[in-house]
Amino acid sequence: MENINFKELKQEYKDLVQSAEEASHKSYNPYSDIAVGAAILTKNNKTIKGANIENASFRLSICAEQSALAQANILGENDFKAIAIISSLEGVITPCGACRQMLFEFFQRSGIDFDIIMSNKDKTKAIIAKVSELLPLAFNLKNFKL
Ligand code: THU
Repeated sequence: MENINFKELKQEYKDLVQSAEEASHKSYNPYSDIAVGAAILTKNNKTIKGANIENASFRLSICAEQSALAQANILGENDFKAIAIISSLEGVITPCGACRQMLFEFFQRSGIDFDIIMSNKDKTKAIIAKVSELLPLAFNLKNFKL
């Protein structure tokens, strides 16, 4: 896990955060007023975006990461290099617990412990972590076999 200045990110990852920011403009957030965007960089160098979609029945809302992952699945693009996440909040956004579990599933599926790049509204800061770092002792397929 690394806390860095946004400028230190490699260009590929800066571009990915930019795509996540574009995706955040598609956020539907009448309840929280928080716009979140996510962008996945696939092994084939495709970018797949997602944004949070809220619901009057609050618990039905889906996070930006989840909408990007669902889109990746339907496109048959399930091997990732990285996912970037950004929001309209001042601080660096970090994925909720449910999203960590969903991200872990794609790590398990592809065998690639991909990067998660988290940034803040002004794109001044970034945290980079591997999926496995964000969800130690994850509930996973191996649990079924014990
Ligand atoms: N949200 C995300 O989209 N991703 C996260 O990792 C954290 C939270 C959304 C859900 C909800 O629409 C809003 O942010 C406030 O919780």
